[in-house]
Amino acid sequence: MILNGIEVSAHIRSELKKEVSNLDSAGTRPLLATVLVGNDPASITYISNKHKACNEIGILTRDHKLDGNISQSDLINLVESLNDDSMVHGILIQLPLPRHIDEYTVINKISPRKDVDGLTVYNQGLLFAGRGELVPCTPKGIIEILRFYNIDVSGKDVVIVNRSNLVGKPLFLLFLGLDSTVTVCHSKTKNLVEKIKNADILVTAIGNRNVFTLTEDMIKKDTIVIDVGISRHMGKVIGDVDFESVSKKSSWITPVPGGVGPMTICMLLKNTLIATRLQLK
Ligand SMILES: NC(=O)c1ccc[n+]([C@@H]2O[C@H](COP(=O)([O-])OP(=O)(O)OC[C@H]3O[C@@H](n4cnc5c(N)ncnc54)[C@H](OP(=O)(O)O)[C@@H]3O)[C@@H](O)[C@H]2O)c1
Repeated sequence: MILNGIEVSAHIRSELKKEVSNLDSAGTRPLLATVLVGNDPASITYISNKHKACNEIGILTRDHKLDGNISQSDLINLVESLNDDSMVHGILIQLPLPRHIDEYTVINKISPRKDVDGLTVYNQGLLFAGRGELVPCTPKGIIEILRFYNIDVSGKDVVIVNRSNLVGKPLFLLFLGLDSTVTVCHSKTKNLVEKIKNADILVTAIGNRNVFTLTEDMIKKDTIVIDVGISRHMGKVIGDVDFESVSKKSSWITPVPGGVGPMTICMLLKNTLIATRLQLK
């Protein structure tokens, strides 16, 4: 069965639209400011999709497009001015940043209450303490889609193939908080397939088909498969999973496109509303 991110996100977005309208009636119009450095085509597409999604439910957006050669201190000045701007409720810096800029330093200049990607150490710390509010969008979207289909994760063996700050680490904490038993794998993991075979729920987020493709022989029957990876093949977007074969053996599976991607954008909208409420407190 398909975990349909398009359907689920449409459902959540209609709820969020009502919330935007309530905030608006009470005198606050949520606003997300995005910052794009350079002109990477994929990043431009991601930013434009995020703006479109915000505008569709009534969230205002402000687009800061900066030259790829901008200095780190000028970028930090912009972030600080957005922190101080009471019209701005959420700040999103599109990653990756050019090599001459230290992502960690810049991201941690974002006010934690405006950190809609949940990547500042403050928000990572809250998540670690089991009190996450602004949680990274992709992991949050994965938990939401499972929740939508009433899939109980308690006591389940979850295997995550990814250990990034954006996906694997926060997802580990979210599943752990829901009483799953979680194994986090990465490029140095020994006997990866053996670990994957043990999964009741498998999340794969590698994004490089040259090094990894999940095939049906790697999973046990009825595994729930969440495909986060994004690769491009002959002009098409594909995931880490050989969908054709794996979908015959899995119980539930996310397609690519149409699975985790729409949920990620939807959680950005949700986080922007959470950030707005945090600033109204
Ligand atoms: N659909 C969405 O909304 C969405 C959102 C975010 C990300 N993504 C996609 O998800 C993928 C991962 O994103 P990311 O930002 O987390 O990237 P990343 O930081 O490059 O993480 C990739 C992970 O895969 C692991 N890996 C690489 N080769 C491996 C191998 N042969 N065996 C096992 N593990 C291996 C890496 O291990 P090491 O840590 O050891 O290097 C790393 O943990 C990308 O394709 C990205 O486009 C999709």
